[in-house]
Parts: sequence; structure tokens; C-alpha cells
Amino acid sequence: MSWNLGTPVNTALLLYILYTVQRILLPSQKISSEVATEFKSNYTWMPKSHPPTVLFKSYTPKTLQPFDGVKNKRILLAISGMVFDVTAGANFYGPDGMYGNFAGRDASRGMAKQSFSEDMLTAVDQPLDKLEDLTTAEIDNMKGWIDHFTNKYVVCGKLVENDAA
Ligand code: HEM
Repeated sequence: MSWNLGTPVNTALLLYILYTVQRILLPSQKISSEVATEFKSNYTWMPKSHPPTVLFKSYTPKTLQPFDGVKNKRILLAISGMVFDVTAGANFYGPDGMYGNFAGRDASRGMAKQSFSEDMLTAVDQPLDKLEDLTTAEIDNMKGWIDHFTNKYVVCGKLVENDAA
């Protein structure tokens, strides 16, 4: 088999190789090998703005409630005192989601009893649900959900009583 420059495919290939070699040898922007310590406009890798950060903080039932995917696009829910940012699961917890009831709320009882009905939720002006009446199987079920959420979402806070924050 011989290399025939007369065929369009080989010509295109040769031009592409020449272009690639030229880009490697003569890059249009000089790439610094030093680690940057301050912003300069010609850094190719530096993000334009700082990525969003997640602040771990205390939420009460009342301050958690607005994070329901409606009042606030961010969606948080709590299980057993841990607050998870479940915004990435908006199709589950958003206003049209199957588990939308849990958004902005303490979902512990519902997770334990495997029910998303409204009566699983404690009113936001009431003390936290102590879950004392739950069976061992229900507590284990809730812990299973905690494992699921810990592996999938970010823990962004803890849930405390309304008068504790
Ligand atoms: C009609 C019965 C139900 C069906 C058909 C159903 C269906 C599903 C499906 C398809 C998923 C997605 C699984 C995945 O790909 O990760 C899921 C996740 C889930 N389900 Fe259900 N489910 C049902 C009942 C329930 C109930 C009663 C609860 C109450 C606690 C529940 C809580 C959840 C939760 C918390 C998730 C995880 C969502 C996430 O990863 O953020 N499900 N369900």
C-alpha cells in the first residue's frame, strides 16, 4: 500500500497533522508552568468566579421550610437531624415530584415508615419529632435512607429546635 497525496482523504489528513503539530509547537497562548498565586487575565485554567460553596449551618423547622423548590430553588430536607441538599434530585422533591412533601421539611418519620403522606410531617412551629414510638425496623429503614442520601447528596447542616438557633 503506498501513500497517495492525490486522494482528498490523505490530503486532508496531512493538513490536519500539520495543523496539530503547529498548534503543539507554537501554541497561541503561552502556558505558564508556575502555580498561580494571583489573578491574571491570561491564565487559561482560572475560573471567572469562585465556584459556589456550601456552608454547613443549623436550620430550624421554620428556616428549613423555605427551601422547598418553590419559594427557593434550592431544596433541603432533614432526616434524623441531618440536613441534606437534595436540589440535584429536584425531579423527586420539586413541586411536581413524587416526594415533594419532604421538601423543606423533616422527612424522618416518612422515611422510617416508608410513607410520603402529609401526616408524616410535624408542623414547623412544633417541637422536633423525637421518633420515640418508631419500631426498630422503622428506625433501620430510616438509617437505610440516611445511607442512600449520604452517598448521593451533600450534608449541609443540622436540624435544631426553633428556639435553639
Ligand atoms: C408507589 C410506590 C413507589 C414507587 C413506584 C417508587 C418509585 C421510585 C423510583 C423509581 C425511585 C428512583 C430510584 C432510583 O433510580 O434511584 C424511587 C426513589 C425513592 N423513593 Fe420511591 N417509590 C414508591 C414509594 C415510595 C415511598 C412510599 C417512599 C416514602 C419514603 C419513597 C421514597 C423514595 C425516596 C426517598 C427515593 C430516593 C430519591 C432520591 O434518590 O433522592 N418511595 N422511588
